[in-house]
Amino acid sequence: MSYFISFEGGEGTGKSTQIKILKGKIDSSNYKCLVIQEPGTTQLGNKLRNLLKKETPKEESITYMSELLLFSAARSELVTKIIKPNLKKNNLIIIADRYVDSTTAYQGFGRNLDLSEIKLINNIATQMIYPDITFLLDSNPKIMSHRIMTKDNQSKNVTPENIRKDIKGSRKFEEEPLDFHNRVRNGYLEILKSYPGRIIKIDANQDKNIISNLIWQNLQNKIPNLK
Ligand code: TYD
Repeated sequence: MSYFISFEGGEGTGKSTQIKILKGKIDSSNYKCLVIQEPGTTQLGNKLRNLLKKETPKEESITYMSELLLFSAARSELVTKIIKPNLKKNNLIIIADRYVDSTTAYQGFGRNLDLSEIKLINNIATQMIYPDITFLLDSNPKIMSHRIMTKDNQSKNVTPENIRKDIKGSRKFEEEPLDFHNRVRNGYLEILKSYPGRIIKIDANQDKNIISNLIWQNLQNKIPNLK
């Protein structure tokens, strides 16, 4: 049997770090591990990732509905070509770095698109394949934005003026105002209320080893023969 888990959360909540640690643990267990990234992983997904993440001049900007449909197109491709065939394999754990809840949180709560339309589109794009477990790394965006800036300052020559424009203008969502990120966070907390059995909220401000142990414990509860 195979399992499908996803990681969700706002910017800078440490998803990538936790996915890396978890992959290491699974690789040395009796399960194999496949990490997929949204948007991305497939050829179309990678093309759309560039397009969706890049800041564009105003005249090239796309509507929020187009944005929603492009994220969903990338997901549809990923579900058909990667997730479905791999779920037929044995002893595999698929880890998705973001999945359907990102769309509800960012396009629904962040962009204020209609939630019932998003639900419909999500169901079409996922073919109703939802993760067995979702780890929601939760934190106040104000704290996270400070953490991102500090990290940037350490690694590059970043000034307050160019602080978030240093990665070739590819930080469209991170550039959004704090208000947007607060809506996204509250969105995730609303989604959690609808799927309490699937989503496990973890305080992202804890030490990374504490977080990774919590994740591993929860995964072992879900997959009893994971050793
Ligand atoms: P990514 O580099 O994966 O961000 P992070 O490292 O924070 O996971 O970029 C993906 C961006 O796209 C991120 O800002 C969230 C956004 N996004 C949506 O708005 N809707 C979606 O459906 C998905 C999958 C991502």
